[in-house]
Amino acid sequence: MIYPIDSTNNDRQYKTVFFETFGCQMNKLDAELSLGLLQEDGYKIVDTVDEADVILFNTCSVRQHAEDKVYSHLGALKTLKQKRPEVIVGVLGCMAQKDGKAIFKRMPHVDLVCGTRMFSRLPELLLKIQSHGSHVLAIDENQIVNVKRAVTFRPNVYQAFVTIIRGCDNFCSYCIVPRVRGREISRTIEDITEEVQSLISHGCKEVTLLGQNINTYGKGLPGNINLGNLLSVLNGLDGLERIRFVTSHPADMSRDVIRTISNLERVCEYLHIPAQSGSDKILKDMRRGYTANYYRELINYTRECIPRMAVASDFIVGFPGETEEDFQETVRMMEDLRFHNCFVFKYSPRTGTKAAELEDNVPDEVKKARNAQLLALQKTISLEENRKLIGKTVQALVEGVSKSVAQRLSGRTRQNHIVVFTGRQEMVGQLVDVMIQEVTDLTLYGTIASAT
Ligand code: 5AD
Ligand code: SF4
Repeated sequence: MIYPIDSTNNDRQYKTVFFETFGCQMNKLDAELSLGLLQEDGYKIVDTVDEADVILFNTCSVRQHAEDKVYSHLGALKTLKQKRPEVIVGVLGCMAQKDGKAIFKRMPHVDLVCGTRMFSRLPELLLKIQSHGSHVLAIDENQIVNVKRAVTFRPNVYQAFVTIIRGCDNFCSYCIVPRVRGREISRTIEDITEEVQSLISHGCKEVTLLGQNINTYGKGLPGNINLGNLLSVLNGLDGLERIRFVTSHPADMSRDVIRTISNLERVCEYLHIPAQSGSDKILKDMRRGYTANYYRELINYTRECIPRMAVASDFIVGFPGETEEDFQETVRMMEDLRFHNCFVFKYSPRTGTKAAELEDNVPDEVKKARNAQLLALQKTISLEENRKLIGKTVQALVEGVSKSVAQRLSGRTRQNHIVVFTGRQEMVGQLVDVMIQEVTDLTLYGTIASAT
């Protein structure tokens, strides 16, 4: 749940909204923008569905499991709707875009289906339901998302996500994203800089630039602009300490941009660049546009230019036709490249994608076993790599009080490690140096060396 940092309307007895988000960072940012708009419109954000006049789910379609979760949440609201028929139930985002009015058929108690490019019109759509009744469908793909951001409305003052490119033109064979998020549209450097300046003036120290395929940033904008140009401009903004960007596509990540980044001191050494598979045959069927060897060389080049670069990857196991030998090539890639961390997913066929036409012929037990094997391997690698940091000092941006160990602070290193240490509450939002004493595969533990 996201709360306003500087709430002005919250004690007004007006309308209440419960909002839950599934899926990626892009979705979390859309949630933030939507809630900013609703708050401006007088809505109060509440923590439970029982207190809410409006219940909204911002959904994800990337795997079947993500959709099943939302349908089960929606199903659970049937009785609440019978008791309080005036409550508005809405489905937003990727699943709304993909399933459209089929959602009303399956869940007749849903009032609103609002796609990925329409959430800027949420207040008006909710008003329409209040005056004209249920089953409002808003999934126009040609809308341009244009939300004037309420910069004070963020989960944390020191960090912010900023979208720089929406949509994806790549059409990887397994992926539903281009269908639900539409074609690529880049924002101008001026527009992004203005937003980041405004965030800085409200205390933001770290921005994470978002895009489904961040490396094609600039395509379609006048003047041959690329990600390197944007990062160079943002790197020059006073008051901004850290810049991150996700997600990178190996085929579109140019060496030119890597060289540019190596000279930008505010750009963090963390690169999330999904390989998806280590097998050339599978990569070809996935339509990824590169070979395993190309990927390996790209990572090696990146590490030559930026030795401290932490590289993270995603892998899909059990793609149609993945043999044991194909899978072993993925294992070898993971062993050789020693990623910082990896997200591993079991292949999930998505209707409407090219891969869904292929037989989903890897049995679920095999997918599960491959998934577990890769996760276990990555865990060992992460632990070994993290152990190398014992006795070293790392810089952390303090994010807040640790969730797992009470009275301790937690933050993130430039390489995106979670770091937990004892410190004072007033350090939250500051950059501090932490000397690492203990590690697990996921977390570093230490003591303050100095506050910078
Ligand atoms: N099945 C399983 N995983 C998928 N991903 C995308 N589409 C699918 C799918 N159909 C994974 C990819 C991507 C991450 C966000 O989700 O690894 O990088
Ligand atoms: Fe899920 Fe993809 Fe939509 Fe993000 S863009 S919410 S990962 S389907």
